[in-house]
Amino acid sequence: MAAGLVWIPLLVGLLAGLGHAEAPQSTLRPLVGRIFVHTLDPASFLRLPEPGGPSAAAPAARVTYHAHLQGYPDLPRWLRYTQRGPRQPGFLYGAATPEDRGRQVIEVVAYNRDSFETTRQRLVLLIGDPEGPLLPYQAEFLVQSHDVEEVLPSTPASRFVTALGALWEPGELQLLNITSALDRGGRVPLPIEGRKEGVYIKVGSALPFSTCLKTVASPDSHARCAQGQAPLLPCYDALAPHFRIAWCNVSLVDLSVPEPAEKQPTPGDGVLEHDPFFCPPTEATARDFLTDALVTLLVPLLVALLVALLLAYIMCCRREGRLKRDLATSDIQMVHHRTIHGNTEELRQMAASREVPRPLSTLPMFNVRTGEQRPPRVDSAQVPLILDQR
Ligand SMILES: *[C@@H]1O[C@H](CO)[C@@H](O)[C@H](O)[C@H]1NC(C)=O
Ligand SMILES: *[C@@H]1O[C@H](CO)[C@@H](O)[C@H](O)[C@H]1NC(C)=O
Repeated sequence: MAAGLVWIPLLVGLLAGLGHAEAPQSTLRPLVGRIFVHTLDPASFLRLPEPGGPSAAAPAARVTYHAHLQGYPDLPRWLRYTQRGPRQPGFLYGAATPEDRGRQVIEVVAYNRDSFETTRQRLVLLIGDPEGPLLPYQAEFLVQSHDVEEVLPSTPASRFVTALGALWEPGELQLLNITSALDRGGRVPLPIEGRKEGVYIKVGSALPFSTCLKTVASPDSHARCAQGQAPLLPCYDALAPHFRIAWCNVSLVDLSVPEPAEKQPTPGDGVLEHDPFFCPPTEATARDFLTDALVTLLVPLLVALLVALLLAYIMCCRREGRLKRDLATSDIQMVHHRTIHGNTEELRQMAASREVPRPLSTLPMFNVRTGEQRPPRVDSAQVPLILDQR
């Protein structure tokens, strides 16, 4: 009875664990066309050491994560996951596209590499359209002094935007997209102090580009970059020294002027225009293919027929020859047999007439080594089973 009472809560706990009923869930609202960053922080997944407890001073646990779209093995196309090391936080980041609008559920599993504890969390993403003015003026910068994880937290990101405000008309600048340079064909740098992978940061604004930015991205500036010279930068680089920008790789996108719609192709009347240089081939004369067809069919047929007849003749009428050959073979065998028989008889007669003593080795009690012959003993009880071989 008592045992049953103990088992029931255990079973209930097991079932709850199987159904992920207790996986904590949080709702987030990414915006289409804006950067979305979610920090995966061990404290929100795993049980924190009690403050003041013995493990509070211990170094942070090593935690890694695996995130995927619910029901699928991987993340949606717009969302990326990155983590520099197991002691650093992980990040889910990306910019949703208009096709991603709606609800997406991301499942995140955290693995504690020290205690092998795993925890599951669900992130419900409600992707909606951003409010406020459109941001048709977009500029992308390659920041060479940072890795992608270093600009994903909100502090460096907002510092970048603030610093950029000095170059642009100080309007409403918003982060649109952040991409690791490694995802855009960049290479992992040599492990030299100060070398970083680089990160692309895309910023949008409702206000037009400043003349400074326009000059940096002008064809003249690009031409100088192509010759290995410094680009034209007519204003003070307010982002330096904290952010090292590759000013040769600034790209500006102006979406304020709608692109002219593609011209629809108009269907013609289906008749080609007259071309004086086009001379169509003259009409082909009628030809009779009957003889060709007959020759093609009849000649192989005739050959096949001849071959068949030849084979039939060989099979039926040449049998006699084979019979004769068989008979001749048996004659030879008979002669052979008789010869062997005669030879054997002759040998037997020769053997019977010779007067030679029997070989010693065929005599009883003969010692192979000494050649000594012993007379057979009468007392059979004293004969050793194995003869003495000295
Ligand atoms: C963000 O950047 C990535 C990589 O360059 C690109 O694939 C993606 O389409 C961008 N997202 C938006 C919304 O522009
Ligand atoms: C940066 O710009 C230079 C010159 O225009 C070009 O050669 C180089 O490939 C660009 N680098 C990247 C990473 O786009």
